[in-house]
Amino acid sequence: MSRVVLAYSGGLDTSVCIELLRERYGYDEVITVTGYVGQPEEEVKEAERKARKLADEHRTIDCLEEFVTEYCWRAVKANAEYEGYPLSTALARPLLAEKVLEVAREVDADAIAHGCTGKGNDQYRFEAYLRAHAGDEFEILAPIRELNLTRDEEIEYAREHGIPVPVDADSPYSIDENLWGRSIEGGELEDPTREPPEEVFEWTRSPEEAPDEPKVVEIEFEEGVPVSADGREDPVEIVRYLNETAGEHGVGRIDIIEDRVVGLKSREVYEAPAAVTLLEAHRALEALTLTRRELALKDRMDDLWSELVYQGLWFDPLREHLEAFIDSTQRHVTGTVRVKLHKGRVQVVSRESPHSLYDERLISYEEKEFDQRVAEGAVRLHGLQERLALRRR
Ligand code: ARG
Repeated sequence: MSRVVLAYSGGLDTSVCIELLRERYGYDEVITVTGYVGQPEEEVKEAERKARKLADEHRTIDCLEEFVTEYCWRAVKANAEYEGYPLSTALARPLLAEKVLEVAREVDADAIAHGCTGKGNDQYRFEAYLRAHAGDEFEILAPIRELNLTRDEEIEYAREHGIPVPVDADSPYSIDENLWGRSIEGGELEDPTREPPEEVFEWTRSPEEAPDEPKVVEIEFEEGVPVSADGREDPVEIVRYLNETAGEHGVGRIDIIEDRVVGLKSREVYEAPAAVTLLEAHRALEALTLTRRELALKDRMDDLWSELVYQGLWFDPLREHLEAFIDSTQRHVTGTVRVKLHKGRVQVVSRESPHSLYDERLISYEEKEFDQRVAEGAVRLHGLQERLALRRR
């Protein structure tokens, strides 16, 4: 008896994989695993329905809370963005791979499979995780990539083998969703000269159609982690609330050309209202509480963290070293930020912290606390090397 565990979303790629694993790879049993990380519940139910029909056994594993507190909150502390994309798909992959691996061990499988194609980033993320944690325990398979299938070939294969083709198979978009963000690729988005059609957006209203009345939201952080948003304190609730509220005001639409791991440039459209809002608020609190030099170095560390995670190298020890630095800076990133959401914009309108380095008495034009005369000597010396260099010429 040979057994394979498949990371399953219920979409076309992974549904086709179930049959391929039997028919082309010769496995006797296919067990599907869907991790719940905040994708639409209907999608999870649909995956369960299809799995009942196609697979030998199915598991849905709810890891939403773990996703938010162990992955999204780290991303907030690291202001995690790659080329303007608040990492979302990249954050969920190591967690999903972990859950799939747990099931594979439990059912004593011979192999683990995923439905990633050979052009994208997700193959790197799944496989880096699986090979690092269980490379000699299981075979690792990527049927769509290995058989070099195109989307049309997949649809044809599905029709021939009685695999339900998703109702939206005529929709050309490839969508990945978790609570932190929604990514849309493909179809006419592949032409970067064209504006994304309104139909690709589901979490956000178009800024033009957003309410005229702005909305102010109050967000509290403790040591860099969001602990409340307008009084909501549950981590999952915080993100849900901000997705809804900021999305309603058209905040969080992103349209970029992105450099994929393989080297391809790709046109990527995202919706990430909560992520965009929280990162903006978090940065504002850092600006208030960290020194200029802490901020400058942290910026570079944040970039390294994001690039590492984008590439799927979650378990490179470098991430822990970077987080040691990042966490050390976050000890002071406690306080309250208010942001105004209005027609696609998120604007910080107030920030306060018990660890603020801002001193109103020192900065104020009205006060004498800071004796301006002491600046004189410093100003006189400022640019000394510039003068030396000019003199040399
Ligand atoms: N470009 C994004 C990333 O690499 C999103 C990928 C989304 N995946 C998908 N199958 N649509 O993180």
